[in-house]
Amino acid sequence: MSENSLGACVIGHPIAHSRSPMIHGYWLKQLGLAGHYNREDILPEHFAGFVRALREHGYKGCNVTLPYKEAAFHLLDRATPRAQQLQVANTLWFEGDILCGDNTDVEGFVANLDERAPHWDKDLKKAVVLGAGGAAASIIVGLQERGASEIYVVNRTFEKAEILAKRFGANVHPAHWSDLSECLKNSDILVNTTSLGMKGQSELEINLDPLPLTALVTDIVYVPLETGLLRQAKQRGNPIADGLGMLLYQAVPGFEHWFGQRPIVTKELRRLIEDNIRGVTA
Ligand code: ATR
Repeated sequence: MSENSLGACVIGHPIAHSRSPMIHGYWLKQLGLAGHYNREDILPEHFAGFVRALREHGYKGCNVTLPYKEAAFHLLDRATPRAQQLQVANTLWFEGDILCGDNTDVEGFVANLDERAPHWDKDLKKAVVLGAGGAAASIIVGLQERGASEIYVVNRTFEKAEILAKRFGANVHPAHWSDLSECLKNSDILVNTTSLGMKGQSELEINLDPLPLTALVTDIVYVPLETGLLRQAKQRGNPIADGLGMLLYQAVPGFEHWFGQRPIVTKELRRLIEDNIRGVTA
């Protein structure tokens, strides 16, 4: 394919369940653009070579997902300040021969909450983050930028929470799972960044009794759309926000880099992906 062809892809391993092609395919159609967006299942030993040869494969750039977000960062010639801050890249494009990369997860996380729970950051003070993996880092940064003054990172492996606390500053506190009840008291927001509650994984079973009823509860898991955590929070009267919007909003900057127009996260797009998720969780 020629260097000028209008295409992009998502690279991961495995990649079959990625919904990114549906999202970008919707925008291409809506904007009347003749581009394409594919899935690329690439083995670890081929990842670096594939990214360097993206244009020979017919791609302007790509999204990168598990397990390659850190490896992608290390391949970049130019990283945005956000990608440098997190040492992770999920959106790659070329400027001339320069391979550029960004991390759009922070913006995806906050844009989702701005849409689903407007003014969620007004009077935001104390936050609780469950999990200390790759996703947790982006969530911590998003919470800090929206003014959270104390962030408790609760993780099964305490050492991983400690590493994040050291990385992101004095207002991030590591905590053991056994400290969760104490952490939930007076919290303004609870975010699940673990894989618990995802289809095929164990349920996240926690006691929400100490959590104020005004606290926003959100989950980055979006399959199913309403996780056990969100259902439990809704039943006791907390505001909730599901994680689908994070996926939709993190996709916006990549599309703009590759296809030249800034796309919009419409209600119709959300419904399209919701229907697809319901299809697999029914
Ligand atoms: P990601 O990069 O997508 O965040 P990850 O790095 O694998 O994914 O992190 C998954 C998170 O879910 C981790 O915080 C993990 O806890 P550990 O650090 O102790 O592994 C958490 N997690 C996964 N399965 C879990 C389980 N059964 N109980 C408690 N926490 C779990």
